[in-house]
Amino acid sequence: MGSTLFPQHIIAKKRDGGALSREEIGAFVRGATDGSWADYQLSALLMAIFLRGMTPEETAHYTEAMMRSGVVADLSHVPGVKVDKHSTGGVGDKVSIPLAPMVAACGVPVPMISGRGLGHSGGTLDKLESIPGFRTDLSLDAYRAQVAKIGCALIGQTKDLAPADKKLYALRDVTATVECIPLICGSILSKKLAEGIDALVLDVKYGRGAFMKTEAEAHELAAALVRVGGAGGKEVRALLTAMDQPLGRAVGNALEVAEAIACLRGEGPEDLMEVTVALGVQMLLLGGAAKDEAAAGAKLLEVVRNGRALEKFREIIAAQGGDARVVDDPARLPQATIKRAVAAPVAGIVSSVDAMETALAALRLGAGRARAEDKIDPAVGVADLVKIGEPVRAGGRLCTIHANDEAAAREAEERLLRAVTIANARPPDQRLIAGLMA
Ligand code: URA
Repeated sequence: MGSTLFPQHIIAKKRDGGALSREEIGAFVRGATDGSWADYQLSALLMAIFLRGMTPEETAHYTEAMMRSGVVADLSHVPGVKVDKHSTGGVGDKVSIPLAPMVAACGVPVPMISGRGLGHSGGTLDKLESIPGFRTDLSLDAYRAQVAKIGCALIGQTKDLAPADKKLYALRDVTATVECIPLICGSILSKKLAEGIDALVLDVKYGRGAFMKTEAEAHELAAALVRVGGAGGKEVRALLTAMDQPLGRAVGNALEVAEAIACLRGEGPEDLMEVTVALGVQMLLLGGAAKDEAAAGAKLLEVVRNGRALEKFREIIAAQGGDARVVDDPARLPQATIKRAVAAPVAGIVSSVDAMETALAALRLGAGRARAEDKIDPAVGVADLVKIGEPVRAGGRLCTIHANDEAAAREAEERLLRAVTIANARPPDQRLIAGLMA
């Protein structure tokens, strides 16, 4: 090892504002993967990066080293352009569940490796696992075979995929170094590029229920993700979408699967469908399955109308060991013992529904995890949630709490009453989709 690759020298260089070389970044990521750097050295460099930043070249080298810290799945046996979607996380964001079968039903292969919920934001894996029998822990070989056979697999991260990120993310979580664009970029893209995809569509969210609180921050993150993904040889596009109120009307695992099924039947909430179709349009364009946005949108709506998207979801559930009858009978999903309406205290027009407060109510009911090792209750959460701009009468329903514990239901009700603001006049229309970055 040359002396410049000693951890303390690399840390000092970044501490003093220098740009790290590909070799120095490689040594850091190797140190995280094989344990040759101590946690305090990894943490010190993470903090130095947080404070000093990284150049675009450093971010690209970091992402590549993280991707190569484990296996990179080979999907070259699957014909066509393989396209995935990733969201930076929000409340009620079940988009992946209707989107993957819709896009696969249009002929574009969707290999999707998703995460679990942590803190206020939910995770696609937890939602899917509320379907009785559904397995997300497929091996990489089973994942490759399923994408080839039915054009889609929805699985969790395996231990071989980008292991450096697992180590570094856990350290970032406890060292106040999560909110750093180069580190977020490397973390998200290393995992996605290791899936074996050709192209990626990102949903970069901003607002009360998102990681990035402002549109400007989301814009900066989206630009970095598109640039670094491009440097990695993939075509990456990003939509910027608002996350001030929850997406759709349900927050909670089985309740969100039921809402995703409604979407696939063409009966989903308008905002959820709008974001799903907007992301799907970009996936079809990248996958070469449509000539322009209008044709792509029409194709997506057609597979919903003719039932092919719903059929694809049945196929995915059955292939992953789940009970595909939930598609026709969502009552087969886990059900809570307490179902109670929350009543509006006054009449008026809904002027805001705070996504963070709603998420915390769902968390209190047991729908999410405060710590990675917590168990979740798939049945609980919030459904029938009002949307901004809707009129309510005094005593009318703001939402329905689904709970398995009376004390938790009472606390969640207090939070939900705080989450919804009722005004006298209709608030100005808010943009759900703020732009596309390509
Ligand atoms: N999601 C990730 O996977 N990594 C981050 O750093 C942030 C969000």
